[in-house]
Parts: sequence; structure tokens; C-alpha cells
Amino acid sequence: MPFTADKDLKLAFTPNLIPAKVHSALPEDLHLRPLAQDDYSRGHLDVLRVLTSAPDVGSSAWSERFDLMASHPDHYYPIVIVSKSTDRVVALGTLFVEFKFLRGNAKAGHIEDIAVSKEAQGKGLGKRVIEALTGVSEGLGCYKTFLDCSEENKGFYERCGYEFKGVQMSKYA
Ligand code: ACO
Repeated sequence: MPFTADKDLKLAFTPNLIPAKVHSALPEDLHLRPLAQDDYSRGHLDVLRVLTSAPDVGSSAWSERFDLMASHPDHYYPIVIVSKSTDRVVALGTLFVEFKFLRGNAKAGHIEDIAVSKEAQGKGLGKRVIEALTGVSEGLGCYKTFLDCSEENKGFYERCGYEFKGVQMSKYA
């Protein structure tokens, strides 16, 4: 499939929010951009499946979820890295911005759902995704950016400049 330029896509948010230095650090054959309305067909769920259960919901349910996120442009900042030679998604992640009352109506950035396709792991792409999302979060004025991860990924996030703070608590339905 030929590479699709940003101008020909419906993107989840304005790409200008992604710091330019992240683009320049990527290899020539890769492109980092906001998630697009038709990224279902570029294998978005295949990459997400590297992280956890992500059953195929079909393109129309996937697009509905995209449209829901895109209709809340102050909160959802999903990004992907796409291979220019295959036009397929190879890495992804999302920033979710939470509005607070504390610290004078501050905002906090949650990093969620980071995944790099198995073939593309170990080439610095995960780090680029985190740099991009952190840059968007800080550019939007979030007072902190944070995430939950497993013990085995702690070293990765430390390499991205994050530090251990507290303990995650969960209750699955
Ligand atoms: N432990 C310690 N260090 C690591 C690990 C790890 N598990 N993984 C990578 N690193 C180091 C690398 O050696 C590299 O070090 P360097 O800066 O000295 O060169 C640095 O971290 C950056 O590594 P990348 O090559 O960018 O990592 P990659 O592209 O493989 O992405 C990721 C890492 C996202 C964890 C990937 O392996 C993956 O998709 N794993 C499966 C899904 C997953 O666990 N996602 C994270 C869930 S947590 C969340 O979503 C908030």
C-alpha cells in the first residue's frame, strides 16, 4: 500500500502539537502522526494486540470509537508510527488529559496503551512514542505526565526519563 500523507487523512488532533525534535530523531522510512480515521486498515489493532487483548471489533465499530475520541479533542491524543514503505502501523500510544480542580484547575497527562510491533521492538520506537506523548502533554501545560506499568517495563520508562512513584491499585470488573 502506498504511504498516505497527513493532508489526505482525518487525524484525531492537530499534528503541530507533536514536538519537531521527535520527528527528526526517527529513521527516514518512519512517520509519527496522530491516529487517523482509517488506521484500522493499517493494522492498528494488530499492534495493540502486542500489549493485551484487542479483539477485532470490525472497521465500523473501530471508526465509531475513533470518532468518539476525536469529538473530545481536549482529552484524547492517540498517536501512531507508520512505516512509509508499507503504510502499516508499527507503534502506538495515547495521551489522555485529565482536568482537575487541584493546583489551580491544573491538567494532568496520562500515558496509556503503549505498544510496538514485535518486529520493530528494540529500535528506539517506544522511546519516540513516549517522547512525543510527553511533549504533547507538556506543550498543553500538564503539570505532570504519568503512567502505570509492569515491573518488567520499569527499566524502559526509566530510559525515557520517568521515575518510580507509588503503587498502582486496580479492580477489574
Ligand atoms: N526493560 C529495561 N529497558 C528496556 C526495556 C525493558 N523491558 N525495553 C526497552 N528498554 C530500553 C532499551 O534498551 C533502550 O535503552 P537505550 O535508551 O539505552 O538504548 C530504551 O529502553 C528504549 O527502548 P526502545 O527500543 O524504544 O523500546 P521498544 O521500541 O522495544 O518499546 C515497549 C518498548 C513499548 C515496552 C515494547 O517492548 C512493547 O511494545 N512491549 C509490549 C507491550 C508493552 O508492554 N507495552 C507497555 C505497557 S505500559 C503502558 O502502556 C503505559
